[in-house]
Amino acid sequence: MEIVVKENYEALSNYVAQCIQEQIKDKPSSVIGLATGSTPVGTYKELVEAYKRKEVDFSKISTINLDEYIGLSNDHPQSYHVFMQEQLFNHVNIEEQNTHIPNGVATNLEEECQRYEQVIDTIGPVDLQILGIGVNGHIGFNEPGSSFTGKTSIVPLTESTIEANARFFDTMEEVPREAVTMGIQSILKSKKIILLASGESKAPVIEQLLSGEVTEALPASVLHQHEDVTIVVDPLAYQLVNK
Ligand code: F6R
Repeated sequence: MEIVVKENYEALSNYVAQCIQEQIKDKPSSVIGLATGSTPVGTYKELVEAYKRKEVDFSKISTINLDEYIGLSNDHPQSYHVFMQEQLFNHVNIEEQNTHIPNGVATNLEEECQRYEQVIDTIGPVDLQILGIGVNGHIGFNEPGSSFTGKTSIVPLTESTIEANARFFDTMEEVPREAVTMGIQSILKSKKIILLASGESKAPVIEQLLSGEVTEALPASVLHQHEDVTIVVDPLAYQLVNK
């Protein structure tokens, strides 16, 4: 596991965007695994800027998103579908049919999970997976206690995640309680993984992650078992390491 500490959020975002651009340059038909949440917003902004400068071509790539809330239609402002359109897809030359996000309003959600896992296996493996990390160590929406052998599934969100997500909704009642998420095993199929963490709220979980213990109580710790993982942090997220 490689650790990269960048001087601030902007530098972190720029670094991760550069990694994605290099991946696409090396292999124009790359499959990129994408995360939502606030951490990668800066990275997507950098990618849009690079596209405007004609430094990157998304026309042949495919993307696979980690997760989607259950019960939010694909045009709900807080859905991850809309998030991805607003942050990236609407601003670059990616083909809509090459973007994949679980459907959180599928009539049969079990079938949707199987379909999504098949998408991962058919167009994958993911060449480069971008991950954020929850304050409780979740990756995707694989909350503490999730099996390391899990595939795409329907998962309940923990109170800590519901509280962290509440900032995006007007009332607590609107905050989704469940999601469809790629499983830990699905994530580990990726050839290369970059996990981003920024800000002091992530400091305790980054300290725990870098302590090296591998436990289902800290889902991200499974990344120690993958051969190509880079953790990119800013000083606020890194502040408790080696203290
Ligand atoms: C989002 C996702 C989540 C987030 C995590 C961190 O697709 O899979 O695991 O990456 O909750 O979210 P932020 O970046 O908002 O702190």
